[in-house]
Amino acid sequence: MNKKVLFVVGSLREKSFNRTVAEYISKRLEEKGIETSFLDYSKLPFMNQDIEFPAPIEVEKVRNDVKGADALWIVTPEYNGSVPGALKNFLDWISRPVVKGNFGAPEFVKGKLVAVSGVAGKSEASLVITEISGLLTRMGLNLLEEKVGLSLLVEAFQTGVFNLSDEQKVKLDNEVKVFIEKF
Ligand SMILES: Cc1cc2nc3c(=O)[nH]c(=O)nc-3n(C[C@H](O)[C@H](O)[C@H](O)COP(=O)(O)O)c2cc1C
Repeated sequence: MNKKVLFVVGSLREKSFNRTVAEYISKRLEEKGIETSFLDYSKLPFMNQDIEFPAPIEVEKVRNDVKGADALWIVTPEYNGSVPGALKNFLDWISRPVVKGNFGAPEFVKGKLVAVSGVAGKSEASLVITEISGLLTRMGLNLLEEKVGLSLLVEAFQTGVFNLSDEQKVKLDNEVKVFIEKF
Protein backbone atom coordinates (compact mmCIF):
# COMPACT_ATOMS: atom_id res chain seq x y z
CA MET A 1 0.00 0.00 0.00
CA ASN A 2 1.24 3.48 -0.84
CA LYS A 3 2.32 5.76 1.95
CA LYS A 4 0.16 8.81 2.56
CA VAL A 5 1.00 12.44 3.19
CA LEU A 6 -1.64 14.83 4.49
CA PHE A 7 -1.14 18.49 3.58
CA VAL A 8 -2.22 21.16 6.03
CA VAL A 9 -2.28 24.59 4.40
CA GLY A 10 -2.06 27.40 6.96
CA SER A 11 -4.24 29.71 4.88
CA LEU A 12 -7.96 29.12 4.39
CA ARG A 13 -8.00 31.52 1.43
CA GLU A 14 -9.37 29.96 -1.73
CA LYS A 15 -6.58 31.27 -3.96
CA SER A 16 -3.88 30.90 -1.31
CA PHE A 17 -0.28 31.19 -2.54
CA ASN A 18 0.67 28.65 0.11
CA ARG A 19 -1.81 26.25 -1.41
CA THR A 20 -0.02 26.73 -4.74
CA VAL A 21 3.23 25.74 -3.02
CA ALA A 22 1.56 22.74 -1.37
CA GLU A 23 0.15 21.62 -4.72
CA TYR A 24 3.63 21.82 -6.26
CA ILE A 25 5.09 19.64 -3.47
CA SER A 26 2.14 17.26 -3.67
CA LYS A 27 2.76 16.68 -7.39
CA ARG A 28 6.44 15.91 -6.76
CA LEU A 29 5.45 13.36 -4.08
CA GLU A 30 2.79 11.76 -6.27
CA GLU A 31 5.40 11.29 -8.99
CA LYS A 32 7.30 9.17 -6.46
CA GLY A 33 4.25 6.99 -5.78
CA ILE A 34 3.26 8.71 -2.52
CA GLU A 35 -0.45 9.37 -2.00
CA THR A 36 -1.38 12.91 -1.00
CA SER A 37 -4.49 14.67 0.26
CA PHE A 38 -5.40 18.06 1.69
CA LEU A 39 -6.93 18.51 5.13
CA ASP A 40 -10.12 20.54 5.41
CA TYR A 41 -10.06 22.00 8.90
CA SER A 42 -12.08 25.13 8.09
CA LYS A 43 -15.06 23.98 10.20
CA LEU A 44 -13.15 23.22 13.38
CA PRO A 45 -14.58 24.93 16.46
CA PHE A 46 -12.21 26.96 18.61
CA MET A 47 -10.35 24.88 21.19
CA ASN A 48 -12.33 24.99 24.39
CA GLN A 49 -11.68 22.54 27.20
CA ASP A 50 -15.40 22.56 28.04
CA ILE A 51 -16.20 20.74 24.77
CA GLU A 52 -13.24 18.32 24.61
CA PHE A 53 -14.94 15.14 25.89
CA PRO A 54 -16.66 13.94 23.84
CA ALA A 55 -15.05 15.95 21.05
CA PRO A 56 -17.24 17.59 18.40
CA ILE A 57 -17.69 15.67 15.14
CA GLU A 58 -15.45 18.12 13.22
CA VAL A 59 -12.64 17.34 15.65
CA GLU A 60 -13.19 13.60 15.19
CA LYS A 61 -12.96 14.12 11.44
CA VAL A 62 -9.60 15.87 11.48
CA ARG A 63 -8.25 13.37 14.03
CA ASN A 64 -9.19 10.53 11.68
CA ASP A 65 -7.53 12.26 8.74
CA VAL A 66 -4.33 12.73 10.77
CA LYS A 67 -4.55 9.12 11.99
CA GLY A 68 -4.82 7.85 8.40
CA ALA A 69 -1.70 9.70 7.23
CA ASP A 70 1.88 8.47 7.52
CA ALA A 71 3.18 12.04 7.59
CA LEU A 72 1.97 15.63 7.65
CA TRP A 73 3.23 18.46 5.48
CA ILE A 74 2.39 21.95 6.73
CA VAL A 75 2.62 24.83 4.24
CA THR A 76 1.90 28.11 5.94
CA PRO A 77 1.89 31.88 5.58
CA GLU A 78 3.13 34.13 8.32
CA TYR A 79 0.52 36.20 10.14
CA ASN A 80 2.12 39.06 12.10
CA GLY A 81 5.31 37.08 12.31
CA SER A 82 3.56 34.06 13.73
CA VAL A 83 1.33 31.02 13.13
CA PRO A 84 -2.09 31.81 11.57
CA GLY A 85 -4.85 31.40 14.16
CA ALA A 86 -6.80 28.70 12.30
CA LEU A 87 -3.68 26.56 11.95
CA LYS A 88 -2.73 27.05 15.60
CA ASN A 89 -6.26 26.04 16.57
CA PHE A 90 -5.93 22.81 14.56
CA LEU A 91 -2.57 22.07 16.20
CA ASP A 92 -4.01 22.75 19.64
CA TRP A 93 -6.80 20.24 18.99
CA ILE A 94 -4.49 17.45 17.88
CA SER A 95 -2.10 18.17 20.76
CA ARG A 96 -4.77 17.08 23.23
CA PRO A 97 -5.66 13.60 24.47
CA VAL A 98 -8.63 11.77 22.98
CA VAL A 99 -9.48 10.11 26.29
CA LYS A 100 -10.18 12.17 29.39
CA GLY A 101 -7.47 11.73 32.00
CA ASN A 102 -4.73 10.93 29.48
CA PHE A 103 -1.89 13.35 29.08
CA GLY A 104 -0.34 14.96 25.98
CA ALA A 105 -0.85 14.29 22.30
CA PRO A 106 -2.36 10.94 21.26
CA GLU A 107 -0.21 8.09 19.90
CA PHE A 108 -1.25 8.79 16.29
CA VAL A 109 0.34 12.25 16.60
CA LYS A 110 3.46 11.50 18.64
CA GLY A 111 6.47 10.64 16.51
CA LYS A 112 4.67 11.36 13.23
CA LEU A 113 6.94 12.83 10.57
CA VAL A 114 6.05 16.44 9.73
CA ALA A 115 7.58 18.71 7.12
CA VAL A 116 7.18 22.49 7.08
CA SER A 117 7.31 24.96 4.22
CA GLY A 118 5.87 28.40 3.72
CA VAL A 119 5.69 31.45 1.56
CA ALA A 120 5.47 34.99 2.90
CA GLY A 121 6.93 38.42 2.26
CA LYS A 122 10.52 39.52 2.76
CA SER A 123 10.97 37.30 5.83
CA GLU A 124 10.70 34.20 3.60
CA ALA A 125 8.38 32.83 6.31
CA SER A 126 11.38 32.47 8.63
CA LEU A 127 9.47 33.76 11.67
CA VAL A 128 6.54 31.39 11.33
CA ILE A 129 8.84 28.47 10.54
CA THR A 130 10.80 29.10 13.75
CA GLU A 131 7.62 29.39 15.81
CA ILE A 132 5.88 26.38 14.39
CA SER A 133 9.03 24.27 14.68
CA GLY A 134 9.06 24.84 18.44
CA LEU A 135 5.37 24.06 18.65
CA LEU A 136 5.56 20.81 16.67
CA THR A 137 8.58 19.61 18.60
CA ARG A 138 6.84 20.31 21.92
CA MET A 139 3.85 18.33 20.64
CA GLY A 140 6.12 15.33 20.10
CA LEU A 141 6.06 15.24 16.31
CA ASN A 142 9.11 14.17 14.34
CA LEU A 143 10.05 17.41 12.59
CA LEU A 144 11.92 17.21 9.30
CA GLU A 145 15.12 19.20 9.72
CA GLU A 146 14.99 20.63 6.21
CA LYS A 147 12.45 23.46 6.04
CA VAL A 148 11.87 25.76 3.11
CA GLY A 149 10.65 29.34 3.35
CA LEU A 150 10.02 31.32 0.20
CA SER A 151 9.41 34.95 -0.59
CA LEU A 152 6.41 36.10 -2.59
CA LEU A 153 7.29 37.85 -5.79
CA VAL A 154 5.65 41.28 -6.34
CA GLU A 155 3.89 39.83 -9.36
CA ALA A 156 1.90 37.51 -7.07
CA PHE A 157 0.29 40.45 -5.26
CA GLN A 158 -0.38 42.23 -8.57
CA THR A 159 -1.97 39.28 -10.34
CA GLY A 160 -3.23 37.13 -7.48
CA VAL A 161 -1.31 34.21 -8.96
CA PHE A 162 1.94 32.85 -7.56
CA ASN A 163 4.24 31.37 -10.18
CA LEU A 164 7.17 29.67 -8.48
CA SER A 165 10.57 30.70 -9.86
CA ASP A 166 13.00 28.00 -10.98
CA GLU A 167 15.17 28.77 -7.96
CA GLN A 168 12.21 28.30 -5.61
CA LYS A 169 11.32 25.01 -7.29
CA VAL A 170 14.89 23.75 -6.73
CA LYS A 171 14.60 24.53 -3.00
CA LEU A 172 11.30 22.67 -2.73
CA ASP A 173 12.60 19.75 -4.80
CA ASN A 174 15.46 19.42 -2.34
CA GLU A 175 13.07 19.43 0.61
CA VAL A 176 11.07 16.69 -1.12
CA LYS A 177 14.27 14.68 -1.63
CA VAL A 178 15.26 14.95 2.04
CA PHE A 179 11.70 14.10 3.08
CA ILE A 180 11.59 10.95 0.94
CA GLU A 181 14.93 9.79 2.34
CA LYS A 182 13.47 9.96 5.84
CA PHE A 183 9.95 8.71 5.00
C1 LIG B 1 -3.47 38.74 9.37
C2 LIG B 1 -2.33 38.80 8.40
C3 LIG B 1 -1.06 39.04 8.86
C4 LIG B 1 0.03 39.03 7.98
N1 LIG B 1 1.29 39.15 8.49
C5 LIG B 1 2.34 38.94 7.67
C6 LIG B 1 3.66 38.85 8.20
O1 LIG B 1 3.90 38.96 9.38
N2 LIG B 1 4.68 38.63 7.34
C7 LIG B 1 4.47 38.46 5.98
O2 LIG B 1 5.42 38.23 5.25
N3 LIG B 1 3.23 38.55 5.45
C8 LIG B 1 2.16 38.78 6.26
N4 LIG B 1 0.90 38.82 5.75
C9 LIG B 1 0.72 38.79 4.29
C10 LIG B 1 0.70 37.38 3.77
O3 LIG B 1 2.03 36.92 3.55
C11 LIG B 1 -0.08 37.34 2.44
O4 LIG B 1 -1.40 37.80 2.67
C12 LIG B 1 -0.12 35.95 1.85
O5 LIG B 1 -0.74 36.03 0.60
C13 LIG B 1 -0.89 34.99 2.74
O6 LIG B 1 -0.73 33.68 2.28
P1 LIG B 1 -1.80 32.96 1.34
O7 LIG B 1 -1.67 33.57 -0.03
O8 LIG B 1 -1.40 31.54 1.35
O9 LIG B 1 -3.17 33.21 1.90
C14 LIG B 1 -0.19 38.84 6.59
C15 LIG B 1 -1.50 38.63 6.13
C16 LIG B 1 -2.55 38.59 7.01
C17 LIG B 1 -3.94 38.29 6.50
